[in-house]
Amino acid sequence: MLGNFTYCNPTKLYFGKDALNNLGAELSQYGKNVMLVYGGGSIKKNGIYDKVLSVLHASGKVVTEDGGVMPNPTSEKLADGCEKARAAKADLILAVGGGSVCDYAKAVSVSAYCGDDPWEKYFIRMEDVDDGTKIIPVGCVLTMVGTGSEMNGGSVITNHAEKLKIGHVFGENVFPKFSVLNPEFTFTLPKYQMVSGIYDIMSHILEQYFSGTDDNTSDYIMEGLLRSLIHSADIAVENPTDYEARSNIMWIATWALNTFVAKGKETDWEVHMLGQAVGAHTDATHGMTLAAVSLPYYRYILPYGQPKFARYAVNVWGVDPAGKTEKQVAEEGLDEMEKWMKKIGLVMNISDLGATEDMLKGITGSTLVMEGGYKVLTEEEIYAILKASL
Ligand code: NZQ
Ligand code: ZN
Repeated sequence: MLGNFTYCNPTKLYFGKDALNNLGAELSQYGKNVMLVYGGGSIKKNGIYDKVLSVLHASGKVVTEDGGVMPNPTSEKLADGCEKARAAKADLILAVGGGSVCDYAKAVSVSAYCGDDPWEKYFIRMEDVDDGTKIIPVGCVLTMVGTGSEMNGGSVITNHAEKLKIGHVFGENVFPKFSVLNPEFTFTLPKYQMVSGIYDIMSHILEQYFSGTDDNTSDYIMEGLLRSLIHSADIAVENPTDYEARSNIMWIATWALNTFVAKGKETDWEVHMLGQAVGAHTDATHGMTLAAVSLPYYRYILPYGQPKFARYAVNVWGVDPAGKTEKQVAEEGLDEMEKWMKKIGLVMNISDLGATEDMLKGITGSTLVMEGGYKVLTEEEIYAILKASL
């Protein structure tokens, strides 16, 4: 049942092989000081850095570089970035990289002038940006596909001292003003990162699909997105430079988490809470943490949402329901999903990501409990799911 909602997505997207040609016109809308944010150096190896810098110079910008954003950006790095942005009097933060770089750019944009400890304010107390706080506009040139950060207000920051990895979903005033999506920019991703991103996309869709019992258009849209994702992922794993497959994957990623399919619907997000807790203790790659906890979680909650799991089996995995009970159909769907996950090379156990049995209590303590899915987990249940994921 669709309730009351407002839908507005202010991010302008430029998609395709020629997408970067639009960067100059976008830059002309901002002041001269640009803070160029990037990760550990992949953009220097694959030439994207040179391409972006030449547009920045041709546009007459004064560029301050802030490189070295690590996968799973930290609260310490955020504090450094805020200082840099203030010193540079940044009129625009241009993020060139994956979700980590885009998330970090958004965090700096709301934190540089917030006058408070951003970790405490936005990630622990979960406060909004105060009225009147200057928000530095962000633009993205995406190089890794998965998070949807290019068209949403999400920003996930890790605090290693506190063993917490927490996301804050900011409002439309924090969404990137524009994002450049050229599928070819993702061709140099190592296979591990590519499939991790593919599973991140799948998980974003499933987090929004496995909730509610109403007849909701978003569920039909998500089944279509999932079918297209599975089809294109199979092609991309065989041939990573297949433009058609990679461009479809890039577009699905954006729609999986740009708020559209969540409107008028309950959502779960417990897989992300489990995965982020694993990430806080291991610093493992985001999509792989999700892959490793998903099946134990879904098998555990299946009895609480059985009709939806059966629908998923039939509409997404093509399970033939003839002569089977609903439970059998639902379980067969998860079995098909497991086979596919193994086939594309996902990590299926948290022990392969560095988690050990003696860490399980701590990881359980770092797992936030969500209330929108088919089962609100107790601490004992979280522990049991993590144990089954080892
Ligand atoms: O740092 P560099 O050298 O650039 O290397 C990166 C990094 O090591 C590399 N890479 C990126 N583009 C490349 C490339 N290597 C070769 N060629 C390219 N074209 O890939 C590695 C991973 O990059 P990262 O940005 O960390 O990956 P991802 O896009 O998966 O982002 C992960 C972060 O996003 C958060 C995650 O928790 C994690 O912190 N998320 C953000 C969300 C959001 N904003 O809504 C939602 C997600 O659920 C997620 O939680
Ligand atoms: Zn994710």
